[in-house]
Amino acid sequence: MRHPLIAANWKMFGTLDGVQRYLETLIGHLQPGNPQVVVCPPYTLLPAAVMVATGSAVAIGAQSCHWEEKGAFTGEVAAPMLAELGVTWVVVGHSERRQYFGETDATAAARARAAQRAGLSCIFCLGELLTEREAGQTLAVLERQSAVLAGLDPTRLALAYEPVWAIGTGRNATPEQAQEAHTFLRQRIASLLGSDAAAGLRILYGGSVKPENAAAILSQADVDGALVGGASLDVDAFSAIIHAASGSSRAG
Ligand code: PGA
Repeated sequence: MRHPLIAANWKMFGTLDGVQRYLETLIGHLQPGNPQVVVCPPYTLLPAAVMVATGSAVAIGAQSCHWEEKGAFTGEVAAPMLAELGVTWVVVGHSERRQYFGETDATAAARARAAQRAGLSCIFCLGELLTEREAGQTLAVLERQSAVLAGLDPTRLALAYEPVWAIGTGRNATPEQAQEAHTFLRQRIASLLGSDAAAGLRILYGGSVKPENAAAILSQADVDGALVGGASLDVDAFSAIIHAASGSSRAG
């Protein structure tokens, strides 16, 4: 069975005071049978977030990590440092990292391997640009971006299909577009990591997920959850998305 996973990507938003109140409210909204929930605030808020979330059903994730365990990499944070804090997840390869910070398929994969070595689970992001979709290249882009997943541990991995044109734009992929990409990615995982891995791997959709569109997107057979940016900053909106995913475990 694939248990749905709903993750919040706060990006560069949030305050110390706010993260505590947010998590207390979120934990209060969760019910048995809810999807797995991961909240990924900025690095500075991770210790406070872990402290509030410990013992609850909410796991805490970071938004990136470095590929080395330590070293002269000013400004970077290593995966074992995150693990030491009690962080259990990390997002890697987000399109904003690719667009603004020179992230490539290879560096994203190196970060994912480092995260897994430190015992963390990864949400590995991929997705096409608008120009690539319009040129009919979506599946070719996903094929290239996913090639680096070979060798990763599928038990500590989820994918997030995030079409770049849908991120922060209010223009989400249609449920059919998401399903097509997710089906393709599951086939890719079968050839890269084996059919058992493909059957059990959660593939999340990300890009303008809101309470109003979550149920339709999450109803697709290969959409196993969501990576939520803007709407995750509002605890009521994020809780509504979680509830939209409740009770939708899929046979793997
Ligand atoms: P969005 O962001 O929900 O604001 O579109 C999603 C993401 O960047 O992960």
